[in-house]
Amino acid sequence: MSAARSWQTAGAFAAVAMLLSCQTQNPRATAAENALAKAMENSSAAASEVPPAPAKLIPDPPRKELSVVTIKSIETLHDDGEHDANNDAINVLQDPTVALKDFPLDRRQQVNWVKALDQGLIEPRPSLTGKGEMLVMDMDILFTNTKDMPHVRFPHLQHTRWLDCSNCHPKIFIPRRGANPVSMNKVLRGEYCGVCHDKVAFSLFICERCHSVPHAGSGKWW
Ligand code: HEC
Ligand code: HEC
Ligand code: HEC
Repeated sequence: MSAARSWQTAGAFAAVAMLLSCQTQNPRATAAENALAKAMENSSAAASEVPPAPAKLIPDPPRKELSVVTIKSIETLHDDGEHDANNDAINVLQDPTVALKDFPLDRRQQVNWVKALDQGLIEPRPSLTGKGEMLVMDMDILFTNTKDMPHVRFPHLQHTRWLDCSNCHPKIFIPRRGANPVSMNKVLRGEYCGVCHDKVAFSLFICERCHSVPHAGSGKWW
């Protein structure tokens, strides 16, 4: 079994373990996350076998530690470990469990912000002062280097409803199809999609929201 193949298999098992454990007891799937983190670490050798991108326009950033910071599900301010529950001022703040009561959730019990936006529950400001207009653009990019996982559809539409082009271009992504040597390893290390996902956008462990386009070799995942 080649190193690349064994990573693929390890990744697949981690994903399946994660789905199973989500459905049974632990919505945060800690064991599966650890398994995946381990699989990603073991796969560093495999990752270096991937042929380099044809044209290197920017040098690789220094290699970062694997640091997955999974977003917490909704908690009361009293339980979040960040607010002083003994200070009366806590009662002035609106509690997330109240404010977000009717918000749509994903299968990890975190707010699905795309649905919240679609349902008109929130209205992001175009700028800090609220002035100006969002430049919304509907253009999908398909990432196909996903091995036996479904391809990744990157939708500009859902992003540009609250992000500016300059949030991504040119620092995170050179604006040219195929110009960025993205890989799952890098995403999990906080580069490319991982700059935001698992931090301020939905968890990296909801694989199917990104890997949403099945292909001939991808089999049935979800
Ligand atoms: C935020 C979006 C996103 C999420 C969530 C996500 N991926 Fe990926 N994944 C990507 C992108 C982008 C690529 C690179 C595809 C390319 O370069 O064509 C990728 C590539 C891959 C690859 C191909 C091999 C490699 O190392 O690049 C595998 C396997 C993979 N992902 C597994 C997973 C698994 C398992 C999960 C869930 C635990 C997951 N991904 C969640 C975006 C995502
Ligand atoms: C959340 C990040 C993000 C935001 C915000 C974003 N883009 Fe992109 N853009 C991408 C990604 C990812 C790609 C694909 C790069 C690749 O294939 O390697 C891309 C590709 C492109 C391309 C290349 C298309 C092609 O066919 O070669 C253009 C042009 C572009 N974006 C313009 C824009 C404009 C204009 C905006 C603002 C209205 C914008 N982008 C906002 C992430 C973003
Ligand atoms: C600059 C920050 C940023 C980057 C970089 C980024 N995203 Fe996102 N993404 C967001 C935000 C914010 C949302 C909307 C909030 C949410 O869903 O959590 C979002 C939503 C999405 C959605 C919409 C899901 C749906 O239900 O419609 C997909 C798919 C997605 N991102 C994939 C990707 C992929 C793939 C990449 C990398 C190629 C990427 N994103 C890079 C911030 C980012």
